[in-house]
Amino acid sequence: GKLIKVYPEIKHAKHCIAIFASGAGSNAKKIIEYFSQSPNISVSLIVCNNAEAGVLKIAAHYHIPAIILDKEKFFRGNCYTDELKEAQIDLIVLAGFLWKIPALLVKVFAGKIINIHPALLPKYGGKGMYGRHVHEAVIAAGEKVSGITIHYVDELYDHGKNIFQAVCHVSSGETPDTLAARIHMLEHAHYSKVIEDILLNTGYITHHIN
Ligand code: GRF
Repeated sequence: GKLIKVYPEIKHAKHCIAIFASGAGSNAKKIIEYFSQSPNISVSLIVCNNAEAGVLKIAAHYHIPAIILDKEKFFRGNCYTDELKEAQIDLIVLAGFLWKIPALLVKVFAGKIINIHPALLPKYGGKGMYGRHVHEAVIAAGEKVSGITIHYVDELYDHGKNIFQAVCHVSSGETPDTLAARIHMLEHAHYSKVIEDILLNTGYITHHIN
């Protein structure tokens, strides 16, 4: 008789990332560029809470679909879980996303949401600690080092388990702007590689020495 080949359930070959961002989107841009030629990983959705945000121009430039969040639906509706499942998102990457992630989304994407914070958590995190406020606080406290923290996201701001940190020195005469610029460089250098390691086990996280 005729041979019928039975395929196992075919999952997509690629890991799909959704990037959530509220602002300029320089991290989003780096991540999109890093994975643009990847056979295994694709940035397949940009999610944004602000129709004026620079990240939407970046999404359009790279022809990546974007969702502009409706606040009511995000916080009191399905928090876009249907749309994210429909897009077969495997990992949610927060890159300067300023809204708190609702408990439902944390539950549905348990262990699959990560964030980057521009300081060495647990210090200088929590509500109100974002952007410039972080660097001002670090300098005001006379810290000699700062850096970046990439961590899992839970229902609390800047709270989930740490994945990766990288440090930089805070020199005398440092201003929030000079520190912000160096921290941005650290973010751009590491975030994509950490994401790649989370999805593909490249060993980057364990082998990276600060
Ligand atoms: C980054 O510094 C990130 O750590 C923080 O928000 C900033 C986003 O910058 N959470 P950009 O929009 O990626 O340029």
